[in-house]
Amino acid sequence: MTIRAVVKGIGHYLPDRIVSNADLEALVDTTDEWIRTRSGIERRHFAAEGQMTSDLATRAALAALADAGLEPDDIDAIIVATSTPDLTFPSAATMVQGKLGMTRGFAFDVQAVCAGFVFAMANAQALIVSEQATRVLVIGAETFSRLMDWKDRSTCVLFGDGAGAVVLEAGTGDGSNADRGILAIDLHSDGRFKDLLYVDGGVSTGATGKLRMHGKEVFRHAVEKLAQTAHTSLGKLGLTGDDVDWIVPHQANLRIIAATAHKMHVPMDRVVVTVQDHGNTSAASIPLALSVGRDRGQVKSGDLIVTEAIGGGLTWGSVVIRL
Ligand code: ACO
Repeated sequence: MTIRAVVKGIGHYLPDRIVSNADLEALVDTTDEWIRTRSGIERRHFAAEGQMTSDLATRAALAALADAGLEPDDIDAIIVATSTPDLTFPSAATMVQGKLGMTRGFAFDVQAVCAGFVFAMANAQALIVSEQATRVLVIGAETFSRLMDWKDRSTCVLFGDGAGAVVLEAGTGDGSNADRGILAIDLHSDGRFKDLLYVDGGVSTGATGKLRMHGKEVFRHAVEKLAQTAHTSLGKLGLTGDDVDWIVPHQANLRIIAATAHKMHVPMDRVVVTVQDHGNTSAASIPLALSVGRDRGQVKSGDLIVTEAIGGGLTWGSVVIRL
């Protein structure tokens, strides 16, 4: 018997305000055509004034709990993957715990930028397999619009706000690839690349700071490392891209998504793509894409899914899940 972390519920939340590429043309020296052809992005959602990351996370959490048929107090642990917590501390996760009215369990954040959801899933799986938790709410939630430098057109057009969540529950399997749940994980980071993608503020500067990125360099690492990590996690199971029903990738750039799928020999009609509607929502992008992909009738129970992401650090990794 093998303990598996099985997906019991999925949900997402997007703030009401939609900002189109045309809206951005009025703010910065850019064009809809440039943004579409370079990134695939057409629109993104921005949180309202006063709407915090923990508010988006709580809405996504409630949707995932409803999907699972569970109440907040059925949950043992909350992990929020975010780089944009409401405050430096306490964590966004404890804020969500409070907003859900949960009086038991424990909650903490994971910070691995755009790869955050993959790292959070790995943490949740470890808690479940070591029997420290039976049900874990894993949330990716971000308000990256607040980290944008509106004078830097090479970054401010790429990001958006949102949240996605999954409920993982302990289940049992026979240890084969037919089991439902998380089947394999591959994680990496390399701090030598810290200057490629970072926020130039924090406790040391006394200001929140703005996102800075060497886009071309990040792009180069992304295409190479995403295909590699997906290959590694599938390889642990003796599988290849041919066995995958859906890739649910981090949604940063359509060209990165397509190049990674191509390297994995997976056609684009087996890739969930939401970047056109959400932009890059960092740690929220994979659970958002998973939830939207399920609502669209793409991913369904029993499917073999690979999620892969890369973010500042650099951090990167992948998770293979049978839904
Ligand atoms: N509108 C119009 N022109 C622009 C804009 C804009 N918004 N931004 C840049 N340009 C110009 C540049 O100034 C440059 O002009 P020049 O040739 O006269 O100097 C030209 O467009 C080309 O710029 P590049 O940077 O070479 O464009 P590129 O094709 O590399 O695309 C992009 C840029 C979209 C940022 C790409 O490099 C990319 O997607 N990189 C990866 C980003 C990524 O995935 N980041 C997220 C990682 S996740 C995380 O942890 C947050």
